[in-house]
Amino acid sequence: MRTKIAGTGHYVPENVVTNDDLTKYMDTSNEWIIERTGIEERRYATKHKESTTTLGAKAARMAIKNAGITAEDIDFIIFATLSPDYYFPGCGVLLQRELGITGIEAGALDIRNQCSGFVYGLSIADQFIKSGMYKNILLVGAEMHSMGLDFSTEGRNVTVIFGDGAGAVVLQPTEDENQGILTTCLHSDGTHAEELAMINPGSHGGYHLGTEKFGYPDPSTPGGVFVTQKMVDDNMLVPNMTGQLVFKTAVVKFPQVIKEALEKTNLSTSDIDLLIPHQANLRISQFVQKTLRLSDEKVVNNIQKYGNTTAASIPIAMSEAWHDGRIKDGDLVCLAAFGSGFTWGSVLIRW
Ligand code: UT7
Repeated sequence: MRTKIAGTGHYVPENVVTNDDLTKYMDTSNEWIIERTGIEERRYATKHKESTTTLGAKAARMAIKNAGITAEDIDFIIFATLSPDYYFPGCGVLLQRELGITGIEAGALDIRNQCSGFVYGLSIADQFIKSGMYKNILLVGAEMHSMGLDFSTEGRNVTVIFGDGAGAVVLQPTEDENQGILTTCLHSDGTHAEELAMINPGSHGGYHLGTEKFGYPDPSTPGGVFVTQKMVDDNMLVPNMTGQLVFKTAVVKFPQVIKEALEKTNLSTSDIDLLIPHQANLRISQFVQKTLRLSDEKVVNNIQKYGNTTAASIPIAMSEAWHDGRIKDGDLVCLAAFGSGFTWGSVLIRW
């Protein structure tokens, strides 16, 4: 028994935000952003009307239709995001409600693995399908970054990169041994957890970090106060990133984890028909392409249009590639991701 991708879907908000638009809020330029990241524009969801869940639901409906099933057939939901609607509960149950399938016996699981959330989700879904536990798993990666970014010059290294969007797949069992997920490789190393993170609000109260920079709890309560005035005053409720460390680690880990998947399946880089890397930075993807000696037509890049959509980037790119006819039956498709945690991973799929 193998796991096949039975349907793909994606959705990006209509609102296009160009690099020039961002120059109204922060000291940056179109030239800087294109030179360092390749990004030309990104999409932002409509405030008060859309959320991570509603973006995910649009992608999910497309994937469900593409798989030729109905929402009622879904027996398990996996939702990967770092920008959930609520601190809790997670987006999985909200998506179930949005799809109108609260009456069915489905479970819902939320994944907090940031840029590699979709790859981790595929691996989890693969185990559930191979064990015979589920027959139609809906896996969604969705982000609404625009609600949580720092639009001042202080936050420019992070803010210019990220965009909103969602991608989804439906996974089903197949008895065709020449089709489906061949292997998944997952890795993590928490050494640099705070180097690409949104630390507040959280339960740490400065404990692990030992510095006021991360905000101590309010001493006037028996517990703490989740969001303190100091966090608001000191602009601590935003993501931070040590960009160069992330970049340098990513360009090593991407090729490593792709080669690991190929070795596990006795395949080589020349067997890859399409590489769909997490859209972190065009320069990272180009570096990986060069290291693996892949031609341009074998690598999917859409970061120019959408920016980095974290857990959504691979399923958006995969869905676009499939709907554009770039993925054909029998193709060997390789997915790879690296990001916050650090966590990274790869997946090989025979389509
Ligand atoms: O998907 C999650 C994983 N994330 C990534 O993969 C991101 C990996 N890292 C990167 O993509 C790059 O590190 C960035 C694009 C984020 C930044 O590029 P960089 O070449 O590493 O720049 P830097 O952070 O080293 O900063 C260089 C200079 C600094 O100015 P000074 O100190 O040299 O005067 C920054 O303040 O560029 C400045 N800078 C900017 N200038 C204009 C940083 N961001 C911007 C900006 N516009 N948006």
